[in-house]
Amino acid sequence: MNNEKDRFPIRELLEVGDNIQEIGKRLAWNMVQYKELQMAYDCAMREVRTKFEVLNAEFDLKHSRNPISAIHTRLKSTHSIIEKLKKRGAPITLEAVEEQVTDLAGVRIICSYIDDVYSIANAFLRQDDITLITAKDYIKEPKKNGYRSLHLIVSVPVFFSDSRREVKVEVQIRTVAMDFWASLEHEIRYKNGGKEEAWLSEELKECAETVAKADEQMLSIRERVEADPEKDESELSRRIKATLKKM
Ligand code: GTP
Ligand code: MG
Repeated sequence: MNNEKDRFPIRELLEVGDNIQEIGKRLAWNMVQYKELQMAYDCAMREVRTKFEVLNAEFDLKHSRNPISAIHTRLKSTHSIIEKLKKRGAPITLEAVEEQVTDLAGVRIICSYIDDVYSIANAFLRQDDITLITAKDYIKEPKKNGYRSLHLIVSVPVFFSDSRREVKVEVQIRTVAMDFWASLEHEIRYKNGGKEEAWLSEELKECAETVAKADEQMLSIRERVEADPEKDESELSRRIKATLKKM
């Protein structure tokens, strides 16, 4: 990356007066740097996605089931980035974007069962190129409205031809059931124009509790099936059969 002195914060544009050439130069330079930043975040997001795909493939081969049912990625739009900085009273500069916008690159991992959320998260965080910045466990401590999900902000190195850059990525890991609730809650709140109404909050929270119960029950059903003594198949023969079936 370039030195501090090479960076032109956008607010400085206002200080160059009516020197059109200078304004043009600074604007262009800012755009080049912003494109570079977006590219770095896009690469970091893709790296994180691949890490989860690898974990899923390995788990599938060893246990004949997929702990991850879907992976979604998104880069925050420029409009949302600016809105976030404005809300925080931060300057609209590239430095502020890197420091304050920790969800510029977002990866959402949808798991089948609750225990998958933690085993996948731990396997990911054990990797020595991943640095955990913050973890918020809204599964152990759900939000007041019933929202459940495990949120991790990590930093991952991205290697370019002549440099290495640490880039932050927000990872949200939750079950299919938690994702079902979060997606509909988001949509309903949006449709309702952000109005805080008691009946709506209560009913949504009730749904969140129902969904959480279903998640626990599904896990306990799976555990009972796995522990069935009638199923006297050794781990080795089960793996051989499962592998042969896929060839
Ligand atoms: P921002 O919300 O990104 O400003 O940061 P924060 O520090 O409040 O982070 P938090 O971990 O609370 O939430 C980050 C993201 O989680 C949001 O952008 C949403 O994608 C998701 N999220 C958090 N709370 C809710 C919720 O109540 N409902 C839904 N549907 N999604 C939520
Ligand atoms: Mg929030």
